[in-house]
Amino acid sequence: MKVVRSTRAMYAMSQSLRIGGGVLGFVPTMGYLHEGHVSLVQLSRKHAARTVVSIFVNPTQFAPGEDFAQYPRDEERDLALCEAAGVDVVFLPGVDDLYAPDASVHVVEGSLSRTMCGQSRPMHFEGVCTVVAKLFHLVQPDVAVFGQKDAQQLAVIRRMVRDLCFPVEILAGPIMREPDGLAMSSRNVYLSDAERKSALGLSRTLGMILDCWQTGEHEAIVLEQQARAHLARVYPAVQLEYLVFCDPDTLWPCDPVPAGALVALAARVGSTRLIDNILI
Ligand code: PAF
Repeated sequence: MKVVRSTRAMYAMSQSLRIGGGVLGFVPTMGYLHEGHVSLVQLSRKHAARTVVSIFVNPTQFAPGEDFAQYPRDEERDLALCEAAGVDVVFLPGVDDLYAPDASVHVVEGSLSRTMCGQSRPMHFEGVCTVVAKLFHLVQPDVAVFGQKDAQQLAVIRRMVRDLCFPVEILAGPIMREPDGLAMSSRNVYLSDAERKSALGLSRTLGMILDCWQTGEHEAIVLEQQARAHLARVYPAVQLEYLVFCDPDTLWPCDPVPAGALVALAARVGSTRLIDNILI
């Protein structure tokens, strides 16, 4: 496994990886890797001859006051996990290498980014799109894998790829869950034992919505009322930020809720902000 730390070296590496031909796969991450990331690598390796993983905690997708400084980092462990997962190249760029101090060009997705997480994190997806566009230019992948867990990010990246004609196929990796159902996330490490129990409220509420839908209740308003009542009764420590029923590609709200709809929520447990979703 090769470790590349500069943008120039990454670009040269991607040129040489392409010489032999074969599909080049890419998994962009912010590190502190867990089984969810490993499953994205496995998906990339199914579709690609070589896989590049980037590890970069991207400052531009965090607003002032968010957890950029505290975001968990463990390079040694991440590299060992990548090696064990069969990654070919790990790209670890520095902030100053990736961003000029007077950078003035940004990628703005102007529709899907406005709802859901975009309401409480208005600059977040601009930071995500800008860094992912840069990484795509440097790595030049044929396929790139994003987790279904961040369903809005997935939709926004797909839209960016479509609208800016990036020659990259976007693959979605399924959400990986802990045995009790909690969606895997690097941020789960912030949770105290009590908060960890409360955090189960997210996946349990989504499960309850699915059960109700399967028994024939398809009205979004009713499903939302039941979910809110369930959370308030069983998981009072969970502060729901949003719960939406929408199309997974356009993120347009849907009511009644059809098969294939995305049900997504964000909530705070203590000071930790968590997201989760299901596809009906
Ligand atoms: O999902 C993430 O980890 C990040 O948003 C990404 C895609 C690596 C961009 O920084």
